[in-house]
Amino acid sequence: MAEKMQALVNRGNEVVMKTYSRFPIALDHGEGMYVWDMEGKKYIDFVAGIAVNSLGYGHSALSSVIAEQAVKMIHCSNLYYTEPQIALAELLVKHSDFDKVFFCNSGAESIESALKIARKYAKMKQKAGNEIITMLHSFHGRTYGAVTATGQEKYHKGLSPLLPDVCHVPFNDFEALKNAVTEKTCAILLEPIQGEGGILPAEKEYLQKIRKLCDEKDILLIFDEVQCGVGRTGKLFAYQYYGVVPDVATFAKGLAGGVPIGAMMAKDFVAEAFQPGDHASTFGGNSLATAAGVVVMKELFENGLLENVNKNGAYLTQQLQKLQQNHSCITAVRGIGFMQGIALNIPTGDVISLCMEKGLLLVGAGYDVVRFVPPLIAEQKHIDEMIAILEEALTLCENKA
Ligand SMILES: Cc1ncc(COP(=O)(O)O)c(C=O)c1O
Repeated sequence: MAEKMQALVNRGNEVVMKTYSRFPIALDHGEGMYVWDMEGKKYIDFVAGIAVNSLGYGHSALSSVIAEQAVKMIHCSNLYYTEPQIALAELLVKHSDFDKVFFCNSGAESIESALKIARKYAKMKQKAGNEIITMLHSFHGRTYGAVTATGQEKYHKGLSPLLPDVCHVPFNDFEALKNAVTEKTCAILLEPIQGEGGILPAEKEYLQKIRKLCDEKDILLIFDEVQCGVGRTGKLFAYQYYGVVPDVATFAKGLAGGVPIGAMMAKDFVAEAFQPGDHASTFGGNSLATAAGVVVMKELFENGLLENVNKNGAYLTQQLQKLQQNHSCITAVRGIGFMQGIALNIPTGDVISLCMEKGLLLVGAGYDVVRFVPPLIAEQKHIDEMIAILEEALTLCENKA
């Protein structure tokens, strides 16, 4: 590796905590679907900051709105009203089935808000208990509530005691869920498409049955759309793709095109459970992030971004399935729109590293999946370019295996 980049990697290893296994490259700038490292090497990016950079890099409308807002006002407290925050909330309400938004700064925080409002709701309704059921193989974030909700033991190690009264059941298994529900259950939380767990979409009938169960038993249904929301499925929310409306939804990642933001939305009957003082966030809904969020919403609804995901998401599926026909190491092609994955029977790490060498950024999910979560602006030519590199890497890795 060139000296300048290696020096930065070394400096980073000295001073930044090792919570990530990082690739030994330093990215410097981007344009559209591409990023460049410090040494000037170009990569086509199908990671997008892990499903964050919805408008790609250097988007002119996004960067000018951020620059203008930075001059005008970056932040003011939620003690006051601001135009960008209200404008983003109005757009989210208009394009969803929810009545109210709570803004925060990340996916984990949006989950914390959902867990808290679920328990506040149970208390308000004088329900028998405050138990929350979530799914095995789920991922909801790293704060204590979110990591407790996460149904993967590896993330729980060394952290006990976790939040009480949270249990996990197998995903896409309605009987197991039904059997776990008691009179103390106040909420069910799930990702409509499990992301970190390995790109596993829920079955439509499963979600429909859960909705019915929740209605019968006055249990809140919460969808974690942090990864699958904000246009990834070709709809604003994945629940709209499935046609099953939850009571609460959380999202984050792509909403402000890379500026940190998170949000939890709810119907009025749930939102009532939060009264002044019950929950808060200093930075949540700040002017800069929400102004950026308005640009993303406009791109999705007014400038054809959702149509692009629908059209090119279908093309991505088609191309991945074609690749599967020629490569027996691909055991499954899964996902919706621009949230897809291929399961492999060869080490995913080798494939991802080789793709990086060849100028393609990809990220894994679960233990055997290579994930595709590109910027929502990806076109057919970008998918073709990605597939060509991936095919070369798969061929080399298969021959080695
Ligand atoms: C479904 C889901 N929920 C929650 C989170 C946590 O989000 P954050 O890392 O912004 O806290 C993630 C992050 O990958 C996620 O995929």
